[in-house]
Amino acid sequence: MSAPRLTAPRGTHDVLPDEATRRERLDALASDLFARAGYRRIETPIFEATELFARGVGASTDVVQKEMYTFEDRGERSLTLRPEGTAGVARSYLEHGMHKLPQPVRVWYSGPFFRYERAQAGRQRQFQQIGCEAIGSDDPALDAESIALLHQLIVRFVGADGIRLRIGSLGSIEGRAAYRERLVAYLRAHEDRLSTEVRERIDLNPLRAFDADDPGTKAVMADAPRLLEHLLPEDAEHFAEVRVLLDAVGIAYEVDPTLVRGLDYYSRTLFEFTSDALGAQSGVGGGGRYDGLIEQLGGPSTPAVGWAAGVERLLLAAGPGGVPDRRASLYVLWDESRRRDAFVASRTLGRAQLDAAGRGMKGQRRRAERAGARIWLTLPADGGYVVRDREGGRETTVADVDAVEATLAEWFDMGW
Ligand code: HAM
Repeated sequence: MSAPRLTAPRGTHDVLPDEATRRERLDALASDLFARAGYRRIETPIFEATELFARGVGASTDVVQKEMYTFEDRGERSLTLRPEGTAGVARSYLEHGMHKLPQPVRVWYSGPFFRYERAQAGRQRQFQQIGCEAIGSDDPALDAESIALLHQLIVRFVGADGIRLRIGSLGSIEGRAAYRERLVAYLRAHEDRLSTEVRERIDLNPLRAFDADDPGTKAVMADAPRLLEHLLPEDAEHFAEVRVLLDAVGIAYEVDPTLVRGLDYYSRTLFEFTSDALGAQSGVGGGGRYDGLIEQLGGPSTPAVGWAAGVERLLLAAGPGGVPDRRASLYVLWDESRRRDAFVASRTLGRAQLDAAGRGMKGQRRRAERAGARIWLTLPADGGYVVRDREGGRETTVADVDAVEATLAEWFDMGW
């Protein structure tokens, strides 16, 4: 009996060459977009101290409570495979005293992240994110810039069809405390119509009342004050300015007072892009402001904003099209007696593919055809190099590899 075959762990998958090519294209697009906007690349470790996420992402979030890959290393330290990138970048900003650099510090990243979630299309246990953070300014222009960058990345890679942007604001931390008091007062005033469960938790977690199923509570909550309508004046102004700037660059959005995100560090602006092309996991990318995070990690109060987009979801939303043709454009066909010449030619010319499966000339020709190579370089037994441009219908025979190069340079002045 043969040994059982091993497969990739649940929620992970192999990125095979076709998908890898599409990912490379996405990375190149992001890299170009960020470079033009003054964002520089940063790479933080794939695992971090567990405490970073407990403190940064929030101990009560699903991500921290249920989804982390946490382990103890041989030195008995508790480490966690990063479930997201913002906490690591914030730690790095603090650790390297980046507040001394001109602010805001703009960085971007691309890499693997890990969450123990129920795997399905677009939801994986190991997934890839492209993301960016701009740290050190509370200017609403930075919120709008961040949103505009994600918008541009999505529109250029996926197209604009079926893409929706929702935005909201949570207000500042102080503003939220004031709102909470207002909500508690409202609930107290209508206590007799609330379910026992909600009534008992008025002081503990008044916001939970919005999720209640009980009809009495629902009726009360329909008229309850909403956070977005009770922002402090400076928070309302900040949010209004973000909208003015988005309008100015012609980015369409919907203001969604119910928008929430699963991470605790957000304050003020929140945003999320969804795609109709995706099923249940419609979130392509999102983010927001996190003015309290760096302080939470032991640093000075430092405002910041950023986002992350899921690479698997961007690829799903974009569909299979648009794979650039990266096949070798020159195919070397050779007679066995010219083995060494063929090898030297393929390595000297670059972007050349050597038939290396022991096929006869006829088989090699068939293979070259399938590979779609534009140029065929044939090394016949009786010597010489036959260069053929299949699309241009040109052919010439030369004596050595230098002359092959000269021919290609003459035929293709823009490179081949
Ligand atoms: P997030 O919304 O948790 O935010 O994740 C961002 C994106 O990552 C999602 O919109 C989704 O496309 C993708 N994603 C998340 N979980 C999975 C999964 N299990 N499988 C596949 N894709 C997934 C953050 O992570 C924040 N750090 C974003 C941010 C940056 N906020 C401020 N700065």
